[in-house]
Amino acid sequence: MNSEEIRERFIKFFEAKGHVRLPSAPLVLKDDPSVLFTSAGMQPLVPYFNGVKQPPAKRLVTIQKVFRATDIEEVGKDGYHQTFFEMLGNFGIGDYWKKEAIDWGWELLTKQFGFDPATLVATVYFDDDEAFDIWTKELALLPNDRMFRLGNLALGDDTNFWSPGPIGLCGPCSEVFVDRGPQPGVAPHRCDPSENCGRYLEIWNFVFQQYDRKADGSLTPLKMKNIDTGVGLERLAQVLQGVAGDAYRTDLFQPLMKKIESLSGKKYGQAKDVDLSMRIVAEHSRAATFFIADGIAPSNEWRGYVLRRLIRRAALHGRTSA
Ligand code: GLY
Repeated sequence: MNSEEIRERFIKFFEAKGHVRLPSAPLVLKDDPSVLFTSAGMQPLVPYFNGVKQPPAKRLVTIQKVFRATDIEEVGKDGYHQTFFEMLGNFGIGDYWKKEAIDWGWELLTKQFGFDPATLVATVYFDDDEAFDIWTKELALLPNDRMFRLGNLALGDDTNFWSPGPIGLCGPCSEVFVDRGPQPGVAPHRCDPSENCGRYLEIWNFVFQQYDRKADGSLTPLKMKNIDTGVGLERLAQVLQGVAGDAYRTDLFQPLMKKIESLSGKKYGQAKDVDLSMRIVAEHSRAATFFIADGIAPSNEWRGYVLRRLIRRAALHGRTSA
């Protein structure tokens, strides 16, 4: 399934469930100077989630371009770290809750995208019995031994507790992973999806937005409970195109990789250092293109500085190895 078919299938599925499609917001949100870049599908919708603005509908579906600067230095080292993504998301604003969200996500994954249920596992926040029971009893989608309870804020572990930043909207989440089975060179214990053992590939995140976190860390319940979903198109495409673990082999990156191969006269997949450089050139030039299209110019400050870093890193790797 090519990436355009994945996008359309996602949107159409949720439109059929009463969601209204909104276009992607820009990478820089003019109404929210507190964030450098749009880093999640829910970010342009925050005023709807916290009740400041009336949403155009209580059910929304988007494909949002997002940028996450935290991983810049990781890009290239493997096939899955990226800074720029397309995030597929369905959102319920004071409308449906955990059961419908999980039910629909599972239906789309298994019936439309064709995932074999036996290859999937899910996580929930450690004390989220409601979500655990929905998975294992109410909807009976997964047995207990394919479920993981993770995180505990009181112990400083925010696994399965999602927020776009240190303050503001947040809540427990439940993630779906493809279980790729025991990995070569990794101890054969049952590693969990929060460990970096290469066994699990995250494909879906259901966030149950129900708190507003204050600067002192306290959690105030929101007036409305909201569903916020994040599904990375690049991850989904990897699995659906049979190249799990390497986004650069999906149709989202192949045209760029082919261009880099023809410019450099080298082939992807033959030498580690060349692969690293090719991935950096492809990923950063893609991200930089979207920055520039959204009006960001290279500079020494703020967003412009991030763009400069991307271009410099790509240019350096273009000259040295690729
Ligand atoms: N907003 C949920 C996510 O980006 O995973």
